[in-house]
Amino acid sequence: MPESRSTDWAVEAHGLVKVFGDNRAVDGVDLSVRTGTVYGVLGPNGAGKTTTIRMLATLLKPDGGEATIFGHDVRREPQIVRQLIGVTGQYASVDETLSATENLVLFSRLNGLSRADARRRSSELLEEFGLSEAAKRPLKNFSGGMRRRLDLAASLISQPPLIFLDEPTTGLDPRTRAQMWDTIRRLVATGSTVLLTTQYLDEADQLADRIAVIDRGIVVAEGTADELKGSVGSASLLLRLADPASLERARQAILDVLHVDAVLSPEAGRITAPMSDPDSVTDLLIRLRTDGIAVAEIAVQQPTLDEVFLALTGHDTTAADAASGDPAGPGAELELEGAR
Ligand SMILES: Nc1ncnc2c1ncn2[C@@H]1O[C@H](COP(=O)(O)OP(=O)(O)O)[C@@H](O)[C@H]1O
Ligand SMILES: [Mg+2]
Repeated sequence: MPESRSTDWAVEAHGLVKVFGDNRAVDGVDLSVRTGTVYGVLGPNGAGKTTTIRMLATLLKPDGGEATIFGHDVRREPQIVRQLIGVTGQYASVDETLSATENLVLFSRLNGLSRADARRRSSELLEEFGLSEAAKRPLKNFSGGMRRRLDLAASLISQPPLIFLDEPTTGLDPRTRAQMWDTIRRLVATGSTVLLTTQYLDEADQLADRIAVIDRGIVVAEGTADELKGSVGSASLLLRLADPASLERARQAILDVLHVDAVLSPEAGRITAPMSDPDSVTDLLIRLRTDGIAVAEIAVQQPTLDEVFLALTGHDTTAADAASGDPAGPGAELELEGAR
């Protein structure tokens, strides 16, 4: 293992840019990930998460900015950086006709394990990820969720100091997702640093020590989950109106009384707004009655990260950039630029 130059910071990136044609997919991203933590990059489809990871992992050349991994420059010292990181997605390049066990053994051998250790480690990992039954099946018959688990298992063989997980739980059922979360926590407890991307606010909330909210290639907010929630107010008002047609008038009432912009949710008749003073809800109710706006439901709660996202970007996390999409998709093969 190469000597680490900086032990405090697993990732330091400044002004990262990647342009595809006239699409500034990543448009000046700064990230600092402290060693030994889980860092969440949260954003909707097409926000630039995968592109950012690929640049940090030396799989894609930045068009601007710089990044270091444990102090090693991704552009000038890619070989050293590659020895310090694991990227899920790399596994898809292994032979599709081989079984899960054969793939893991191969991977273990490539990582320098003896034949016996490779066999033992592979069966441990397959057991841990609930893949023992499928161990003999060729990879080409694996579902997306099984691949994702095998992929993470593969990165656990060498357990590199920094692990990039690109949407590790997208599309997984709740039980498998919970298993993934446990595994990620264990990775960090045993000394790795994890940078994960996610579209799920609850995932970032549950796992990440710090979160960068990214939208259209730009970091729009950064902090702990609590800091992000606090940034939109100490509490959050949820209103459901009896008649969705009065949504606009309710928004105006909230603006007048609470002096904040409300967020109209896609769900009919629902409206949320950050509040600095939960007490002022009384004034709002009086105003709504005066205006003849009937309320079906009202609650004052802690702000959710969903609201943080809405407040920051004006749209929710499912609102993908219409022109984009995710050409590679989570867990898809990451190709080494210019190397094949
Ligand atoms: N290889 C590529 N060629 C052209 N455009 C790309 C490529 N990869 C990503 N993009 C575009 O860059 C933007 C960001 O994509 P991506 O980083 O995959 O977002 P995310 O991972 O957050 O969903 C999207 O608009 C996407 O269409
Ligand atoms: Mg992606």
